[in-house]
Amino acid sequence: MKYFIGNWKMFGVPKSINILKSINSFNLFDKNRNKYQIVITPPYTLIHFFAKYFKKKLIKIGSQNCFYKEKYSSNTSAISPYMIKKVGAKFTLVGHSDNRAEGDTDKMLKEKVKHALKHNLKVVFCIGENKKQKKNNSTNRVLKNQLIKVLEKKFNKNNIIIAYEPIWSIGTGKIPNEQDLSNTVFFIKKILKQIFNNKSPAVLYGGSVDENNIQMLKQLREIDGFLIGGASKSPKKFIDIIKNYYK
Ligand code: 13P
Repeated sequence: MKYFIGNWKMFGVPKSINILKSINSFNLFDKNRNKYQIVITPPYTLIHFFAKYFKKKLIKIGSQNCFYKEKYSSNTSAISPYMIKKVGAKFTLVGHSDNRAEGDTDKMLKEKVKHALKHNLKVVFCIGENKKQKKNNSTNRVLKNQLIKVLEKKFNKNNIIIAYEPIWSIGTGKIPNEQDLSNTVFFIKKILKQIFNNKSPAVLYGGSVDENNIQMLKQLREIDGFLIGGASKSPKKFIDIIKNYYK
């Protein structure tokens, strides 16, 4: 099963549901539809409305983040995994570089993953190196640290998906070259196998994925799907990514 996950970031109002309706119409009649899962992560404000509308449909709704406490607390503006699950989300991103930059620590991320799994959310755990780290050839060391500081053997690996998003690639139009990306995904899976008894969760790629570069990305069969930012706000682009992937 491949994943095409659209992360809307700070985008969308109720009528933006039309974007999802277009994607859903395509999905419904796509002969390849059993080979992949579409997930969209709108902002918190739209999760309930979208999840209700798509409850019996193929598209799943997820959250872009969750707070590191489980149910209720006195943290103003915080939203817990329990609250997200109760309004119909099936997935949550954790550890997006935007949120790491805002202060999410490994300790907080571990709590987020733990509580999200407890509430039966599938966790899309994001990792990635910045430009300087790449330049210093420390990509593997950085990624390994991000994985081993947060993930534990006792976590249910069937509900964990890893999204490799190099920070220098997010929103820049730049993507890693084929060989580097292949090596990195292979390395990530090696570390995951060390954590989870020789079995690796799915590993996605994210960062400037579009309807053109998917032609190159699809050659790397070890990539289990894509986390798509900018292009997920356009139904045409998002659909073309899927079409071109299976062409
Ligand atoms: P872009 O596809 O806009 O580069 O964003 C990637 C991303 O951060 C998805 O989470």
